[in-house]
Formats: sequence, C-alpha cells, structure tokens
Amino acid sequence: MPPLHEIAHLAHVELRTPVLDESVEFFTRYLGLTENGSAGDSVFLRAWDDYEQITIKLTGHATSGVGRTNLRAASPEALQRRVKELEATGRGIGWADGDPGYGQTYVFTDPDGHEFGLYYESEWYTPPAELAPSLKNQAQAYPSHGVAVRRLDHINYLGVEPVVNRDFLRDTLGALVTEQIVLNDGTVAGSWTTFTNKGYDAVYTRDRTGTPGRLHHIAFAVDTRDGILRAADIALEQGVHIETGPHKHAIQQTFFLYVYEPGGNRIELCNAGARLVLAPDWQPVNWSEAERAKGQAWGLKTIESFHTHGTPPVEEAS
Ligand SMILES: [Fe+2]
Repeated sequence: MPPLHEIAHLAHVELRTPVLDESVEFFTRYLGLTENGSAGDSVFLRAWDDYEQITIKLTGHATSGVGRTNLRAASPEALQRRVKELEATGRGIGWADGDPGYGQTYVFTDPDGHEFGLYYESEWYTPPAELAPSLKNQAQAYPSHGVAVRRLDHINYLGVEPVVNRDFLRDTLGALVTEQIVLNDGTVAGSWTTFTNKGYDAVYTRDRTGTPGRLHHIAFAVDTRDGILRAADIALEQGVHIETGPHKHAIQQTFFLYVYEPGGNRIELCNAGARLVLAPDWQPVNWSEAERAKGQAWGLKTIESFHTHGTPPVEEAS
C-alpha cells in the first residue's frame, strides 16, 4: 500500500449543469466564489482562500453530475510513482493538457467510472488589483457577499460498491480509511477516506439505484458553525433550496447544511471544527446499522432524499 501524503490534496472539481447561467449565479452570488475565466462551455470559479487558479469548473451539459475530480500530487516524483501504479490497474486513460494554469494531467477512472486527473505543476493565483487581499498570506480578498466559503472541503461520490472504489483510492493513491458504515451482513455502505490530516477528502456511499459514476455532493468549508447558520439564512433570502440541516453529523462530527444548486447538484456547507487525523496507525471507525438508525449526532433523522437524490438523476431501480 502506498504511503499517506503522496497526494497533497483534493484540488478542483468539474461539475456539470444543464442550466449554466443559473448555476454560475448560485456559485457567485450565494456561495461567494469568484469567476476566473472560461473556456468553451466551462466557467472557472474560485474560492477566496484557494492558492490555485480554479476551485470549481462548471460545465454546461445535457444533465447534472460530476466531471473530472483533480488531485495535486505532493511532488513530481510522487506523481510519477502514482501514475506507474495507476497504469498497472488498467484504469489509466493517459496524459492530457491540464485546465488553464495546470500542467500535464494524468487522467484515470475509479472502478465506478468517476473520472480523476492527477497533476503536480500548478500556477499559483495572482489576484487583480481589485481582488488583492490586505494581508499577503491570503490568496484573494475576503468577499463581502454570500456565504463566502473558504475552500473546497471534500467530495462524496455515489458508488455501486463503495468498498471497491475506496480500496482503489487506498491502494493506488495512499488514501487512509478513517470511518465507514458496516451493515449487519458485513457490507460497507459508506467509506470516508483522507489524503491529508483532515478527517476526510473523498467519500463513497452506496448508490441504491446501482448506477455507476454518480455524485452525492461536494462540500465547501465554512470557518465557523455560525457561518453555517448564516448560510441557511442567506439561502432563505435567495430562494436556494435547503434539503436538510443545519445539524451535526455523527460520522466525522461535521456541522452541516445541504442545499441544491440550480442544476440539481447537492452542495454541502460544512464545518468540521478543529478535528484532525494525526495518528499514523489510525484504525477505521465502524458505524453499525443500529447506530445509523439513531440519526445524526443530535437525533435529526436522515432525510429520505439523502438516500434517493444523486446526480445525474436516474430512474429508481425497482
Ligand atoms: Fe459531506
């Protein structure tokens, strides 16, 4: 198994939307992201504390869902080492030009077919004068509107078999499994993994429809729990659909709010407090069906749509 920290962090994610203009408005007016160029049917958006060029690549498409998830390797050598292992799995697609501001990117898929890009070369963001921060240790001025999310936090894929996908990330990229849901029959219904010292960066939960390659949600980090409450108030004012929360997850103890962007993709605003995974010999925390049935940390029952809504939408399997 490769060592932890070969992957520096989850980088930018491509989201697809059938209503590009409305989605851009959600990400800029509600979340407080800044536009940073466009190419073809894609608009590049960035969170204010992202040192790289792009946080979200929003692509106009026939339907919703996730496109390529980009990861930054820890070094040029780590990139070469990971590519060698990815190639050996037969899931490599090959090298491609990166998005604007990024170097050569190795494209591959997980067993479910979610597309990933792995790169090292990255051109740091330099803000224009009107977006320059007061303090030089910050990527961009703090936005005075919307939720003003700091950065992308994690991505939660739907997977036909979560364990197969998370084992792939573990065995090829060195992801550490931190928590998981283990059903009474031993099946892993959800798995949380990290590339860093955060509790989790990439999550797989089981797709009840059995459809491969779908998205459950992407999450943005908000500095405080109060910021999550404020995000709920702003959602109410702006007509943004709140699915559930604010509340606190039992798994990972994250304080959360879930909303839908106009394209249908689920977006989480999250605050994981000061929690870090520092132990090199961390063992996965297993949650049972009985424990899950208790609901979230303070007793909120998990909303039914959490088990049924994914993107792109599909017909529910009978
Ligand atoms: Fe999440």
